[in-house]
Amino acid sequence: MKKIIVLGGTGFVGAHVCEKLVREGWAVTVPTRRRIKATAIMHLPNLTVLELDVNDEAALMRAVPGNDALVNLVAILHGTQEAFERTHVALPRKIAKACRVAGVKQVVHVSALGADALQPGKLPSMYLRTKSEGEAVLMQAAMGAGTSGQADFDLSILRPSVIFGAEDKFINVFAKLQRIFPVMPLAGAEARFQPVWVEDVATAVVHCLEGASPATSPRIIEAVGPEVFTLKQLVQMSAQLAGIGGGFGRPVFALPDWAARIQAKLMGLAPGEPVMSDDNLDSMKVDNISTGQQPGLASLGIIASALQPIAQDYLNSNNVKSGLMGMRSRSH
Ligand SMILES: NC(=O)c1ccc[n+]([C@@H]2O[C@H](COP(=O)([O-])OP(=O)(O)OC[C@H]3O[C@@H](n4cnc5c(N)ncnc54)[C@H](OP(=O)(O)O)[C@@H]3O)[C@@H](O)[C@H]2O)c1
Repeated sequence: MKKIIVLGGTGFVGAHVCEKLVREGWAVTVPTRRRIKATAIMHLPNLTVLELDVNDEAALMRAVPGNDALVNLVAILHGTQEAFERTHVALPRKIAKACRVAGVKQVVHVSALGADALQPGKLPSMYLRTKSEGEAVLMQAAMGAGTSGQADFDLSILRPSVIFGAEDKFINVFAKLQRIFPVMPLAGAEARFQPVWVEDVATAVVHCLEGASPATSPRIIEAVGPEVFTLKQLVQMSAQLAGIGGGFGRPVFALPDWAARIQAKLMGLAPGEPVMSDDNLDSMKVDNISTGQQPGLASLGIIASALQPIAQDYLNSNNVKSGLMGMRSRSH
C-alpha cells in the first residue's frame, strides 16, 4: 500500500483530498496542530492523524520519512508579511528538504491562480507574492537545483481559482451575509473569478499522483471551472440560489476602493477571520481567471463542473447534508 502525508489535510480541500486518496487505496497521514480539527476525516480507513505543527522543522523531518508522496495544502489568506512568508515560503523550503532527505518521490503543491514563480515581485498582494515564492522554492528542488544536481522529486503545482463546495467560505459566506443584511456593499465588485469545484480540485491532486508522466515534472496546472463571473455576479447568485429576498437576492452596490479599504480595516478589528482584508483587496487587482498559458484540468482528464447546479444544492439544503456525509452523497 502506497503511503502519503497530506499537510493541510484537515482543511476544506484537504478533507476531500483525503477521502479520495483512501478510496484509491493510499495509506494517508494527516498532521494537524489540533487533533480536533481532524474530526471530519479521522474515521476514514487507513488514515492516521498526527498532532504536530508542520512549521516545526524537526517534527516535519520525523513525520515525512516512510511516505512515497506528499501533498501540501497549507496556506493562510490573512496575516502579516512574516506570517505569509512562514506559511507560504519557509514551509515549502522545509518540505523540499524533508522530502529530499526522506526520498519522497512525488509532491503535489496546491498554490493559487495568479501566482507566478518567475516574477513574484510584480504581483499586487502578499498572498500572491509569497505563494509564488513558495512555488519557486519547490520548483528549484524538483529541477535539481540542489547540491546533488538531481531532481529531488516529481512536482505538480495546482493553481486553483476560488474553490466552491458545501463547506466553502466564499459562496456560503456571501449567502449568509445576505440572510442578515438587507443590502450588500461590495469591495472588488468587478474582479473576475473562474470558480472551480472542490471535488475537481481533489480529483486533480489524485490524478497528478497517479496519472502524470514523470517526464513533464515540474508541471503547473491551472484549476478553473468552465465559467467566468465577476464578484458581484457571484454574490448576487449566492443569494438567488439560496432563495434569499424571495429568490431575487439583495441589492449589491460596488464600493469605491477608499471605502473598501475602510471596510477591510473595520473587519480586521472584529474577532475571528475577516471576510475581506486589505491584502485580499490587493489580490483582486488582477483577475482570478485562467491565463491560458498553462494546462488546465482537461490535461488531467477532468471535465470541470459548473457552479450553479452544485451551489444550488448545498445553499438550498441549508446544511442538512453538511460535512463528509454531504460530500459522500454528492460524489456517488
Ligand atoms: N479555498 C479556496 O477558495 C482556495 C482558492 C485558491 C487556492 N486555494 C489553496 O488551496 C489550499 C487549501 O485551501 P483550503 O481552503 O482547504 O484551506 P483551509 O481550509 O484554510 O485549510 C488550511 C489547512 O492548513 C493548515 N494551516 C493553516 N494555517 C497554518 C499554519 N499557520 N501552520 C500550519 N498549518 C496551517 C490547517 O491545518 P490545522 O489547523 O489542522 O493545523 C488547515 O488544515 C491552500 O493552499 C489554498 O491557498 C484555496
